[in-house]
Amino acid sequence: MQSISRRQVLASTVAAGAAGVVLPLIYPRAVQAASASVIRADTRVIEVAGRAANVFGLVQPDGTHGLVTSAANDFQVRLENALKAPTLIHWHGLTPPLGQDGVPDLPQPLLQPGQSYDYNFPIATPGTHWMHAHTLQEQQLLAAPLVVTDPAEASADEQPLVVLFHDFSFKTPEELLAGLTGSAPASANGGMAGHSMSGMSGMDMQGMSSGQGMAMPMDVNDIQYDAYLANDRTLDDPQLFAVERNGAVRLRLINGATATAFWIDTGSIEGEAIAVDGNPVTPVRGRRFPLAMGQRLDIRLRIPDEAGAWPILALREGSVERTGFVLATRGGAVKRIAPAGDQVTAAFDLAFESSLVAAKPLALASADRNQAIEIGGTMQGYSWTLNGRTWGDHKPIAVRKGERIELVLRNASMMGHPMHLHGHHFQVVAIDGRRFAGAVRDTVWLPPMREVTVAFDAANPGTWAFHCHHLYHMATGMMTVVDYAA
Ligand code: C2O
Ligand code: CU
Repeated sequence: MQSISRRQVLASTVAAGAAGVVLPLIYPRAVQAASASVIRADTRVIEVAGRAANVFGLVQPDGTHGLVTSAANDFQVRLENALKAPTLIHWHGLTPPLGQDGVPDLPQPLLQPGQSYDYNFPIATPGTHWMHAHTLQEQQLLAAPLVVTDPAEASADEQPLVVLFHDFSFKTPEELLAGLTGSAPASANGGMAGHSMSGMSGMDMQGMSSGQGMAMPMDVNDIQYDAYLANDRTLDDPQLFAVERNGAVRLRLINGATATAFWIDTGSIEGEAIAVDGNPVTPVRGRRFPLAMGQRLDIRLRIPDEAGAWPILALREGSVERTGFVLATRGGAVKRIAPAGDQVTAAFDLAFESSLVAAKPLALASADRNQAIEIGGTMQGYSWTLNGRTWGDHKPIAVRKGERIELVLRNASMMGHPMHLHGHHFQVVAIDGRRFAGAVRDTVWLPPMREVTVAFDAANPGTWAFHCHHLYHMATGMMTVVDYAA
């Protein structure tokens, strides 16, 4: 039943050959995990911009980074902690029963070095997901793809390519966090971006889709990273995927960055967004798609019927830095791409979100409960809140089993936030009060001064994290829980 296609073999050969080195890791393609898999949280060394970098990884015994499995399988995974520090891995996008979600102390304790834990629950729904430490270790690449394939699509003549994006610093996450929260001025922090250092800080809100029409300063990108990665590689040495002329490709893209949102740019090939956060949407055509921290995006595209090489780029929001990978046919000439472009990209808005329509919406129902959540905070003092509170004094969002809940998320801060709910997927049902049958997701972007309403069914009792997927916003307390009993 397990077979590796010619394409996949070709892809690994070309990628390794082009780089002139043997790839240290195999990224998951279409090999299915039949039953129990072992995933080891371990250390590894990658090369970033010519320098060796000690990072973490989530590796199977055969070297595969992350996991590809089928929705027909149960999630049977032994997680081993081979690190010198305690850790725990969250399965972002899966909806496990309480106890197997992998958020420290919600309720599972951290795994100590040398310990392992066996996860076992039904997966049921396919989708592009990922796994990551729910701690500052996420910054050090303790994150990997978790792709659930659809048995109904097993025969689709489509080449799946899985890419996880990340932001990378040679500093430790503790140093990065101290730089954000410390009292030292941004300019003294060597690489930390405060108000004055970020390219887009203080940008004018006019001309953005807010409709506010007034000039207000807005913050984009509070950390300056040393590099931006696509499957651990920079544009100095990008991954080359071997594709076929006129072949159909399905990109499964994951933004695993901790504090960086990316515009996905498909260049001269028009793409079709077919799923967000693993959930199918009515296809939306385009060449540029927003992908916030924590989110996933599946794009279908067709390679032109000619020899060539087509870069797919991830452009840092509100900035010029970029990363990416290359789709190349046999004989396609690959050109060098600089790791910075010459145009500052726009800040994220809700244009793409507004265009999305769920292919599998929630059942029509009116809300049994509305909960307003005001997203607040500023770069000053680096304090970020939900309804005025941080994790230290959070008030659980109390719901009852069986209810349809609507969370009215209003961003009263001047920075965008990707808001993520565990244990459920929600549907975007309104933007700024305008109702529509938007995408089903687990992470939604809130631009400054905008309002997004999401609906979900309370069908998975437990205590589930609800937080901003900007790692340093979460680490400074931008988190609460949705809480209900069976
Ligand atoms: Cu991707 Cu609370 O996590
Ligand atoms: Cu945030």
